[in-house]
Amino acid sequence: MIKKLQELETECLKAFSSISTSAELEASRVAYLGRKGRLADILADLPKLSNDEKRSAGQKANEVKSAIEGAFEAAVARIDSAQSAKRAEKEWLDISLPGSEPSVGHLHLTSQAIEEISDIFSRLGFVRARHPEVDWDYYAFESLNMPKDHPARDDWETFFVEGENNRVAEGEKGKIVLTPHTSNAQVREMEKGQLPIRMINIGKCYRRQSTARHLTMFHQFEGLVIDKTATVTELKGVCDYFAKAFFGEGRVTRLRPYHFRFTEPSFELDVSCAVCDGSGLVAGAKCKLCKGGWLELGGAGMVHPNVLKAGGLNPKEYQGFAFGWGVERTAMMRSGLNIDDIRIMYKNDLRFLQQF
Ligand code: DAH
Repeated sequence: MIKKLQELETECLKAFSSISTSAELEASRVAYLGRKGRLADILADLPKLSNDEKRSAGQKANEVKSAIEGAFEAAVARIDSAQSAKRAEKEWLDISLPGSEPSVGHLHLTSQAIEEISDIFSRLGFVRARHPEVDWDYYAFESLNMPKDHPARDDWETFFVEGENNRVAEGEKGKIVLTPHTSNAQVREMEKGQLPIRMINIGKCYRRQSTARHLTMFHQFEGLVIDKTATVTELKGVCDYFAKAFFGEGRVTRLRPYHFRFTEPSFELDVSCAVCDGSGLVAGAKCKLCKGGWLELGGAGMVHPNVLKAGGLNPKEYQGFAFGWGVERTAMMRSGLNIDDIRIMYKNDLRFLQQF
């Protein structure tokens, strides 16, 4: 039996050393050491031996078993390291190679302008506010000195929200509209009752028009200053500061008389054209961008006493100025591009967007 055990050991060690996969190794281990394996088979004859023979055969069997187990562990380690060497070769990576750069997007031109506009006004102490973009007729018109059915309302091609039975939805303060301008923020801000006011409200506006110069959805920024001493001079100073910060040091502004129901006096604000430097002429010919030296930015004025009253303020005690300008228009004016159709801003054409 001792001889058989010795032969088994020699054979098994040789077998293990030539195996190269874990599956084969496991099968081989079961064949030699398993419950019905070769070792068990040899030891089945143990009861037939004398006591002395049993002792020496038992001792040899233990030695053989531990030799086989040792060889098994060694084979496992050998196969594992061969496998991981193979994997390392396959998955080899040169970390010194330059990476392939993922394409990084950027904020839309409008979002960039909004961030910059908020930043410029914050330097003048204006606090950014958010007021509803779906609002009652009262805040969009009535509180701004435009009574129901007043023809001035027609200037704002308004979308009304539809309610039941195809009728315009009404709430506690009148019909519900998609705000056609950000001026609805004026009385809402006064109603907060925190004075003085230095607010900048930037939001979406909607009008029933889609042409080369008008978008159905666009953005405005509305400034409102209410204090005991707010004046036209201060308004002009704010306009100049903004024009220089946003368009460049050399730019100047002018206030041109105009009419709005909610301001008195009212103005249109113009900024000098960068292409002809305000002269209206380029090499002796009419400037193609502005046609007269000035580009129109938007409306402004001293808040009308009726608007102050609607906001719960006494016009004898408080006064203020306001302005409301289009974000898209302002951003386009800066780029100096004479875009013939403003709707391109929201067509998601990357060739256009990536230029900014
Ligand atoms: N809300 C006006 C519009 O959309 C612009 C405007 C004019 C806003 C005068 C003002 C203002 O705050 O004072 O055309």
